[in-house]
Amino acid sequence: MEIPSNSGQNRIFIIGYGDIGSRVARLYKEKNYIVAGLARSPESCQMMQDDDVEPVTADLDNKDSLSGLSLAGALVFYFAPPPPTGVTDPRMANFLASLDSNNIPRKIVYISTSGVYGDQAGRRVTEKTPPNPGTDRAFRRLNAEDQLREVRNRLRVQVVILRVGGIYGPGRLPEQRIRNAIPVLHQELAPKTNRIHADDLARICVAAGKYGRDGEIYNVSDGCDSNMTEYFFQVASHLGLDRPPTVGWEVANRILSKGMLSYLRESRRMDNKKMLTDLHITLKYPTLDSGLSGISRTQHTNNY
Ligand SMILES: NC(=O)c1ccc[n+]([C@@H]2O[C@H](COP(=O)([O-])OP(=O)(O)OC[C@H]3O[C@@H](n4cnc5c(N)ncnc54)[C@H](OP(=O)(O)O)[C@@H]3O)[C@@H](O)[C@H]2O)c1
Repeated sequence: MEIPSNSGQNRIFIIGYGDIGSRVARLYKEKNYIVAGLARSPESCQMMQDDDVEPVTADLDNKDSLSGLSLAGALVFYFAPPPPTGVTDPRMANFLASLDSNNIPRKIVYISTSGVYGDQAGRRVTEKTPPNPGTDRAFRRLNAEDQLREVRNRLRVQVVILRVGGIYGPGRLPEQRIRNAIPVLHQELAPKTNRIHADDLARICVAAGKYGRDGEIYNVSDGCDSNMTEYFFQVASHLGLDRPPTVGWEVANRILSKGMLSYLRESRRMDNKKMLTDLHITLKYPTLDSGLSGISRTQHTNNY
């Protein structure tokens, strides 16, 4: 595998080149930065080529495929998710093992999730709220954060952690779920959640690369408090579809997927003041309405 040398102040390296990676790359390409990306599938590598991003094909599950990854001086964005099982993130471990005193990025910006706060019974969470992971998924993310903190101390690499709420945007709406009339919880039972538009998230990542302070965590959301049911209702209305039916917990527990139920059992509201102030962010889409209004009504799928 040929791995590009990616050193120098203007070099950007995106580990886990997918939807957000592509949006971040576009922002840097507009300013003539040199961008490289890493992913394993032919589809993601093709996307890099289409975006005029230097592709590196490697598998974060295979440590050997990462040897020779040259990141000295680069601004690194780490966007790859942990594996689907377990309570640690071996992909992050493999990536960090490729760093040493001769191969230290300028800064690593990591997309974590607001899921590390777990269930907060609808309370507002700031970056000072202690993590309270309630699922293996959240433990994996917290483990990735811990690994980054350890490497920060050992190699003196700057680390910025973004704890991101639900991402929506073009191509990322639960259209199929709504078309299938999969029920949602009655409004009064629905957990509080926050969202962020994918384009705003990309801009926040770039701002974190520039202004994010070493060792800091930033909550990322549009700050617009909502609940899951309201979200599905608003998306249905935007797509011109019928609202999904609502049910109580007893039915939900019987018919909804384990994954969906794990989201429904956690309720919190994200405080985004630190992100807005310290990263100098003015959101393009501060409400779901404003974000949806710019999204076409065709072909949306996501993981719900
Ligand atoms: N969905 C949400 O609401 C939400 C909320 C908070 C945080 N996040 C997280 O935000 C991050 C960015 O999201 P996104 O939408 O850009 O994700 P995405 O489109 O799925 O991109 C992630 C990329 O990581 C790559 N990747 C995964 N496993 C890999 C491996 N073993 N080796 C090499 N590359 C690997 C994938 O490439 P391949 O195609 O080669 O597999 C994929 O292109 C993800 O970590 C996501 O979990 C999501």
